[in-house]
Amino acid sequence: MREIEKKAAGAFEEEFGETPALVASAPGRVNLIGEHTDYNGGFVLPCAIGYRIATAVGRAPDGEGKLFSADFAEGVPLGERADGSWADYPRGVVWAMGQNGAEVTAFRAAFAGDVPLGSGLSSSAAIEAATALALDTLFGLDLSKKDLAILCQKAENDFVGVPTGIMDQYASLLCAAGSALLIDCRSLEAEIVPLDLDEAGLSLLVCDTRVERGLADTGYEDRRKTCESAARALGVRELRDAEEEDLNRLEGDELRRARHIVRENTRVLEAVRALRESDFSAFGRLMYDSHLSMRDDFEISTPELDAFVESAREDGALGARLTGAGFGGCAIALVAEGEADTLVRDTRRRFEEEDFKEPTFYRLQPAAGAEVVS
Ligand code: GLA
Repeated sequence: MREIEKKAAGAFEEEFGETPALVASAPGRVNLIGEHTDYNGGFVLPCAIGYRIATAVGRAPDGEGKLFSADFAEGVPLGERADGSWADYPRGVVWAMGQNGAEVTAFRAAFAGDVPLGSGLSSSAAIEAATALALDTLFGLDLSKKDLAILCQKAENDFVGVPTGIMDQYASLLCAAGSALLIDCRSLEAEIVPLDLDEAGLSLLVCDTRVERGLADTGYEDRRKTCESAARALGVRELRDAEEEDLNRLEGDELRRARHIVRENTRVLEAVRALRESDFSAFGRLMYDSHLSMRDDFEISTPELDAFVESAREDGALGARLTGAGFGGCAIALVAEGEADTLVRDTRRRFEEEDFKEPTFYRLQPAAGAEVVS
């Protein structure tokens, strides 16, 4: 068991005075390329990160279900109503399972996690995925990881009330260690793409700008609505179906947002080709192009995210881009192993000069998706 899983199991024993029936955990994610394409029926290429949320669970008598967070040292009744707290994620999963006709009776669960919160590394998908996998096993539901991901998205959209696409939940459940995951967000086919950074002598450096963003903020929903109206204007089902020539028929915001989506989908497929050929230089160029497109066309970058990407370019990183929803949160860079420290140092200096908050850095290896561990 990983430390975080032991912590969840220990918290369960302490809080509920018995051993848990099982422990499951699920990771956060970074997206390598393919941003805001998921809710347009397009392509994304995330990988799981080494930070996870673990849950230890066991059945409970009717009416005595309870959720306990070891990190917040807080226990709450399982309940059926959302109250705006962390507990809404597991509650939402239970609700979505019920909607799907699954028999989920009362249970107790203890949670522990080390996915940074509010940084855009998908702590919410991690808690949903860990809960879904744990309950699937506890109640013998026998749902596939793909079905669990769809349920988790439903929990997030319709119970928590945040209109995200499918990427984060899918990544948390289906990613594999040492790989990225190409997801076709329309067909929901997913394909493992090997990504052995060690062998290539590369590091994936994450810069958390510590500009907190919430997906409930209006920017995300605005972008989503403009994409939908651009698709309507073009007479296509989703922007996934639009092509470069179609863009001539749009203008203003609809043009810029649609141009990002159309080109970003192409970039994801080119990026997968580059990875399969171990052409990391080509992959990196696509990352830079993606960032510019998000900065200028989709307009979801911030001065902090741009500053990190600029530093990466100056320091000779192969590629860099903001990752996730944007409007704050994290950016990533693909750098030669020996160069990561220099980029960290130069970014820190730049942020200080610009009077930005002090950034936090993580070095990542593509990690395993959700697992039942005991
Ligand atoms: C958030 C959402 C995802 C996706 C990304 C942007 O992470 O949860 O569904 O839309 O933003 O690519």
